[in-house]
Amino acid sequence: MADFYITTAIDYVNGPPHVGHAYEKVLTDVIARFRRLMGDSVYFLTGTDEHGQKVQQTARSRGVGPQQFADEISAEYRAMLPRLSISNDDFIRTTEERHKSVVRELLQRLFDKGDIYRGEYSGFYSTRQEQFLLEKDRSADGSWPEIYGEVTQIVEPNYFFRLRGYQEWLVDFLAKNENFVFPRFRQKQVSEFLKEPLNDLCISRPRERLEWGIPLPFDPAFVTYVWFDALVNYYSAVAGKPGVWPPAWHVIGKDILVPPHAVYWPIMLHAAGIALPRGLLVHGWWLTGGSKMSKSSGNALNPLDLVDEFGADALRYFFMREMNVGQDGDFSRELFLTRYNSDLANDLGNLVNRVLNMTNRFAGGAVPAAGADGEAEAELRSLWQTTGRDFVALFGQFQFHTGLERLFAFVRAINGYVEKRAPWKLAKSPEPSDKALLQTSLAVMAEALRLASVALRPVMPGAMERINGVLGYHPAGAWLGELEWGGRLAGSKVAAALVLFPRPLAAADKAP
Ligand code: MSP
Repeated sequence: MADFYITTAIDYVNGPPHVGHAYEKVLTDVIARFRRLMGDSVYFLTGTDEHGQKVQQTARSRGVGPQQFADEISAEYRAMLPRLSISNDDFIRTTEERHKSVVRELLQRLFDKGDIYRGEYSGFYSTRQEQFLLEKDRSADGSWPEIYGEVTQIVEPNYFFRLRGYQEWLVDFLAKNENFVFPRFRQKQVSEFLKEPLNDLCISRPRERLEWGIPLPFDPAFVTYVWFDALVNYYSAVAGKPGVWPPAWHVIGKDILVPPHAVYWPIMLHAAGIALPRGLLVHGWWLTGGSKMSKSSGNALNPLDLVDEFGADALRYFFMREMNVGQDGDFSRELFLTRYNSDLANDLGNLVNRVLNMTNRFAGGAVPAAGADGEAEAELRSLWQTTGRDFVALFGQFQFHTGLERLFAFVRAINGYVEKRAPWKLAKSPEPSDKALLQTSLAVMAEALRLASVALRPVMPGAMERINGVLGYHPAGAWLGELEWGGRLAGSKVAAALVLFPRPLAAADKAP
């Protein structure tokens, strides 16, 4: 059973993972962790997309079989997940039998219904690249670029899926479900696309040209081509698990919204009589120097280098703080370092050490109980009242960047509170009222830090666990009442110190 089934796109195995792939996993993971903390039973799926021309060709050029090649690259994607603290429940590969059998079953069902038929496919074919070309592949002058070699128009038999017959249904479905695609402006793009008549979708390739695919159950001289195979992963992975389907969200990048996820997939499901997902969550791209980070443009950064240097939590924080989900964002080491230094090392890291240090110096290492609120305490408590409420609402609407902005404003306010109360001064005063205020200020600092760290758990699970550890606090698996201000830490023994986000070495200090 799951109340909240969430998926990522499955990555092509024709090259190693880059920052764009890592981002999508982290975004989905933050949502999954957030929902778990909110008390939902979550099922989180990710995986790899392994069939097709490109994989077949790349494997051949490296002198290995496609399965061996796919095994190697898929293992790289899988190995990235724990390094990014991704809490997926399953990892599906489209070369697994559990997937292939469901694809075959679905194809057969649609074929028997008459929604798949045999027809003729006509197009421009490049023998050198072994692929059909599209009009957009032409050069400005109408010729075919050199890389394609000889291009000829060919006609070949193939199988087609009746998309056009379902166009009206889809238009109507989207009109009735105006929040099917998040953000909304992307749903408008889908509707625009549907203003033109749809062509039926060619879903096969003759086996003599493409070996590396799932043979059609009703005609093994053909394999199924790309989307009919890949999209089905969301369904095949949970076909044997009652109560998980349908998905709450498919998290995908904007390049695979129209037509695959917004047109092919809803129509495939509807035609097969399967419930539709609740929605599509569409994120933008990470850009470097204004262009999409990608394998082919050679500007891809390896996310694991950043994890090695700064830890998974810092990269996760950067992704979520810097990207407005749905828009594009700029990725650079400089931007990353700015966030790391100012928010993580300075604001949060320093706060943790102040709390530990002062609790040890002025209270024998155990968090005191708070006395009555003064003005500064009431102010901080009231800021938490709004922050704690607002960030939950913002996270629930995928506004992580704003939610984090608010949470870090709270972290800075705790630091401001410490400056204002200056416990180191209170500790020197012989006045009993100052002694009481010292206890209160230590208690309030610790409690406010506890709240911030509990709230930040979905984004930085590892670092927050460490903070909770040094505060002697053991939060439950779900938030329950933990986001409420209370004296939960009174009497807790704190650790001596914690280096959470060490300052990066300047380039010159680095060992060669
Ligand atoms: N295999 C297909 C998806 C099939 S889903 C049934 C595919 N694979 S991909 O490896 O090219 O991309 C996987 C995901 O990574 C996509 O959602 C894509 O948008 C995302 N990203 C790839 N590069 C990206 C950026 N530079 N920035 C953010 N995400 C981007 O498409």
